[in-house]
Amino acid sequence: MNRSEPRPLTLSAPGPLTGSLTVPGDKSISHRSLMFGGLAVGETHITGLLEGEDVLATAAAMRAMGCTVTRSGPGEWRVSGVGVGGLLQPETALDMGNSGTSTRLLMGLIASHAITATFIGDASLSRRPMARVIEPLSTMGADFTASPGGRLPLTLRGISPAVPITYTLPVASAQVKSAILLAGLNTPGITRVIEPVLTRDHSERMLTGFGTDISVEPSDQGRVISIRGEAELRPQQIVVPGDPSSAAFWMVAASIVPGSDIVIRNVGLNPTRSGIATALRAMGADIVEQDTREAGGEPVADLRVRHAPLSAIEVPHDLAPSMIDEYPALFVAAAFASGRTVARGAHELRVKESDRIAAMAAALGACGVEIEEFEDGLAVTGTGGDPLPGGARIASLLDHRIAMSMGIASLHAGKPIVVDDARPIATSYPDFTDTAIALGAEAHWVTQ
Ligand code: S3P
Repeated sequence: MNRSEPRPLTLSAPGPLTGSLTVPGDKSISHRSLMFGGLAVGETHITGLLEGEDVLATAAAMRAMGCTVTRSGPGEWRVSGVGVGGLLQPETALDMGNSGTSTRLLMGLIASHAITATFIGDASLSRRPMARVIEPLSTMGADFTASPGGRLPLTLRGISPAVPITYTLPVASAQVKSAILLAGLNTPGITRVIEPVLTRDHSERMLTGFGTDISVEPSDQGRVISIRGEAELRPQQIVVPGDPSSAAFWMVAASIVPGSDIVIRNVGLNPTRSGIATALRAMGADIVEQDTREAGGEPVADLRVRHAPLSAIEVPHDLAPSMIDEYPALFVAAAFASGRTVARGAHELRVKESDRIAAMAAALGACGVEIEEFEDGLAVTGTGGDPLPGGARIASLLDHRIAMSMGIASLHAGKPIVVDDARPIATSYPDFTDTAIALGAEAHWVTQ
């Protein structure tokens, strides 16, 4: 992060939110564009790349391993790849900052190259579990020296040729799935991942686009994804759609601030990512898709969102994988609904950039919301649309989504809600505050 001092922020909405906005490029697709482009032979051209700190960490790592990654304009990037098998050993440790996706996917990439790399990250990333990728990648032949508990800093000694495996995912995780598929790219034979629960499928879609031999078939155990190794990737023209996870904050904001009427342009609506729209609609949110189309092999649409009274729901457990990053925003929506929303079956929230169950329980609780915390979720009793009492300073815990969610909550609060540090927002959404202002909100950078 660029600034060394915490930046406390409070947002307020003197009136309705109005106007249209464009959300930044999808974070998952942006990471993959750089990684897959780096493995292709020739030049991949990317437009709409998210220029947040997490994605820039991936760009830096790919450069450190021999790829040429250049920015030719806002969101416009070119990657000259080294070809599968061609990654070079980085000379210094790879600093992954706050980014779990960069770390886990790159561990997969490196595991089947005969190079050694050390991964380091910030305090949040250094607390996150890496055993979930260390275990399958070790079976493929890679060797790891990790910090206690299978955490960063860790050193990975890759191997070539690696051994192909068939691996059933013990946790619903697109990062683990993708790490194994990426390791499979430079592994002779067929590497298989069996996914009992469908998670975001950007790797499968994009690897198909890059020309690899990848197939997806149903089975009794779940989705079987098979990739043939020693693959050759063809460079691509990639148009990155807008990130539904970033759009989620404005869906909630417009729903809770009376009189609001906004259009969020170019939102990716891949069904493996659109659970938040389903959940909010079930609560009564007024979200209308306009001009549904395709961009970069993904469905996209503009979303018109108008203020609407929200009612509590029991969030279906099976929505969890398609909205796993959106629970903090959903909890904020629930805080303004009438009744008690129960969202469980989301244990994975405990191991995100922060423990998002504990973080949101503490943050909303401090703002006067009645919360019950479970091991795998929260019950939130809402105000029925009234402002939150507020008057609290909340801890964002190096977690961009906690900071943004509570920023949205502060738009409709009796007394100000101060997010103790807005710097983490830059990991995924550098223009978040400017966008809030453009929609009619006011931002106050509070002195400490
Ligand atoms: C991601 C997968 C999810 C998600 C993360 C991005 C990806 O993580 O939370 O923000 O791009 O593959 P898990 O695989 O840990 O569920």
